[in-house]
Amino acid sequence: MSDKAATAQESLEALLKEARSFPPSEEFRRQANVSDPMIYEAARQDLEGFWAEEAKRLDWFQTWSKVLEWNAPWAKWFVDGKLNATYNCVDRHAKSFRRNKAAIIWEGEPGDSRTLTFEALEREVNRFANVLKSLGAKKGDRVAIYMGMVPELAIAMLACAKIGAPHSVVFGGFSAESLRERINDAQAKILITCDGGWRRGGVVPLKANADEALTGTPTIEKVVVVERVGKAAQIAMKPGRDYWWHELVANASDQCDPEPMDAEDMLYILYTSGTTGKPKGVVHTTGGYLVGTSTTHRMIFDIKEDDVYWCTADIGWVTGHSYIVYGPLANGCTTVMYEGSPDYPDRGRFWSIVAKYRVNIFYTAPTAIRSFMRWGTEWPAKYDLSSLRVIGTVGEPINPEAWIWYHQNIGRERCPIVDTWWQTETGMILITPLPGLTATKPGSATQPFPGVEAEVLDGKDRSVGPGAGGYLVLSKPWPAMFRTIYGDPDRYVRQYWSQYDGKYFTGDGAKVDEDGYFWLLGRVDDVMNVAGHRISTYEVESALVDHPAVAEAAVIGKTHEVKGQGIAGFVTLKEGIRASAKLKDELKQHVVKKIGPIARPDDIFFTSELPKTRSAKIMRRLLRDIAEGRVLGDTTTLADPAVTSRLKRQYEEEGKGD
Ligand code: WTA
Repeated sequence: MSDKAATAQESLEALLKEARSFPPSEEFRRQANVSDPMIYEAARQDLEGFWAEEAKRLDWFQTWSKVLEWNAPWAKWFVDGKLNATYNCVDRHAKSFRRNKAAIIWEGEPGDSRTLTFEALEREVNRFANVLKSLGAKKGDRVAIYMGMVPELAIAMLACAKIGAPHSVVFGGFSAESLRERINDAQAKILITCDGGWRRGGVVPLKANADEALTGTPTIEKVVVVERVGKAAQIAMKPGRDYWWHELVANASDQCDPEPMDAEDMLYILYTSGTTGKPKGVVHTTGGYLVGTSTTHRMIFDIKEDDVYWCTADIGWVTGHSYIVYGPLANGCTTVMYEGSPDYPDRGRFWSIVAKYRVNIFYTAPTAIRSFMRWGTEWPAKYDLSSLRVIGTVGEPINPEAWIWYHQNIGRERCPIVDTWWQTETGMILITPLPGLTATKPGSATQPFPGVEAEVLDGKDRSVGPGAGGYLVLSKPWPAMFRTIYGDPDRYVRQYWSQYDGKYFTGDGAKVDEDGYFWLLGRVDDVMNVAGHRISTYEVESALVDHPAVAEAAVIGKTHEVKGQGIAGFVTLKEGIRASAKLKDELKQHVVKKIGPIARPDDIFFTSELPKTRSAKIMRRLLRDIAEGRVLGDTTTLADPAVTSRLKRQYEEEGKGD
């Protein structure tokens, strides 16, 4: 087990003593979509039969000849099946009794709002699909999307899927350079962006960032710009390249036939941070992904026809892809999209949205819950939250205090909490309670979803047994699993499938207790989880070293009360450069410019040396001990143990490096 998992293990020993258990109420169980515990056994005995039954809920142009073809690590689900994701998410509902049902309820940060019924959504998607075609997009062409949380973002994704052009959504909080890197990796032909986005009353300069990115993106031919902030953003349109969304759709037909896609055709690419190297383009395909996301959405959130469902994630992350757009819409469910920040114009914004739309299902992140805790119970107390039925969390382990706070103040001790574990790569939730069945324990994501086989292993493919920490591994394929890393299949094999024969290595540490409940212990690799965002230490180090003053940098994630982890950078400067508070700010700003505001280091600490082993590897474990004020771990492998004690003293004297 790595150093990091060992540390996590210590702090989570306490967590495992958590004895409270919250079974579903009889009332909830009676009405739940899933209330028969046999579902687990049935899926175990007939994995393919279980998923085939679920797949029948979708509309297929051609049914599959085989449910699963598994040549580890290569999976094909619903072989020979033909379908279209958008047809399933939009068209079929627009032709049904759901015609006038709200598909998307959108709330803008300034207070404007828009509701799109399934029928209206179908028209908008068709118009934009025709626009994409007229700009030269064909089946298989990649389309990059760099937008804020506006309805056009979902429309753009669905339009891409309608014509079979894989989208690559880049989170609007990424910098121009990050956007450029992702566009180039995917070789995208078209970019869709906004003039700007609203965030805490200010403007995120999306088009300006896009322009900067586009100085080095030879494959981009056309750019479509949604007008969102108008005069608040000063933007330039480049003739022949840039077009306004509203002008293009005004003349586009609202009829567009769905492209029949093979179940294994690519639906999208989404970039995520890995331990080393550039971000990885995680590839998701059409059939299995849609089956996996819609099934988990319906069962885990106990979705009913009249429900209003709200996932607070940004669509720039996988949670938004699977559980704002594809999963809910495939189920014909009303999905809420909110543009802005939870504390704008005040700290009651989320609860005012819940009350305004009578939200039934609410899905958010532990980092947000910890902010709400700090802001005080008076904010949710002001609002009518009685519409809520199920509440969920995702993104990082939830500490029991936050869980209990959520249960009492948001769920009002009535709503089951679903703590859902999954990843960009897994596409769908894999470890989770089923709200009508599972007795939850605060801090545990409980059990693998039916048909999912998870194990906790030591470094040698041996099960560690109850209570012991180890690596979380998935031993059977699941339909929404990613199929490869875009353009780099070797990396897919190396990074995820070479640790254990035929099993998927998650990069997370975990424990299983005597009841078979899983407790997630955080990442065991050099990936940080900062406010639920995955950022690799390597990326931040590269950004720091890119600054002309920096000789060497080591970055670690250190425990942070609200964000889960904060970023601390230990930096050695080049000969003759003087450390100063101004330089610290400059370095933080440099990281923002290279990666984006989400990667801004909390602390920068200047040091003349970094602790290294005799083979010159930086000992991050010791830096974490220093940053978190712990007694130093084993220093015997260090080339010069004195470096660490000096550094520790200096760190304490200077006060956390700030
Ligand atoms: C972490 C987000 C504990 C985990 C969907 C994983 C969690 C990484 C949980 C994936 C949870 C996500 N409990 N840890 N319920 N959910 N994680 O790719 O470390 O942005 O590997 O996907 O988040 O982050 P990603």
